[in-house]
Amino acid sequence: MTKHLFLIGFMGSGKSHWGERISARTGVPFLDLDALIEAGEGIGIPEIFARQGEPGFRDMERMYLRRVAGMPASVVALGGGTPCFFDNQSIIEASGTSVYLKTTPEVLISRLETEAERRPLLAPLDRKALHVFVRERLAVRESCYLKADVVLDMAQDDVIIMERLEDLIRRNK
Ligand code: S3P
Repeated sequence: MTKHLFLIGFMGSGKSHWGERISARTGVPFLDLDALIEAGEGIGIPEIFARQGEPGFRDMERMYLRRVAGMPASVVALGGGTPCFFDNQSIIEASGTSVYLKTTPEVLISRLETEAERRPLLAPLDRKALHVFVRERLAVRESCYLKADVVLDMAQDDVIIMERLEDLIRRNK
């Protein structure tokens, strides 16, 4: 593989999970943008939001995305908001192929109900507010997710998803 394979999609769509799995299977390195930010800054994403607000986080996210663009070809799990801010979509397009992990709001909600804590945009929401947030935010964001080169329906069997990702890595020249 000579370019990055970017995994994009809403929180809870499986970007990190599938990034790790496909990396273990193919030997292509795996990068997680949120984890790079946390390692680079020495603090967690919730603390970044608490100290600098979402605008501060978005500036940082763009800076680390630019750094990732210059790294050796990898499978890269982006944050749920990454392709939707600034010129991030152009940075993504210029440095790799992007795959949208398309997941239904129902599946996202069921996953995020138990995983909201480490996600500052979700942490303050009760169950009902989480449902509304996911549906509304997904509806807004889907237009930027659909700019991805490939849309992968995550309702398919895991074996099919793995084959498709492997195929994309093979052809990502
Ligand atoms: C965000 C998603 C998070 C993280 C931050 C903001 C978003 O990443 O970047 O909390 O705006 O959707 P994950 O999609 O990996 O949870």
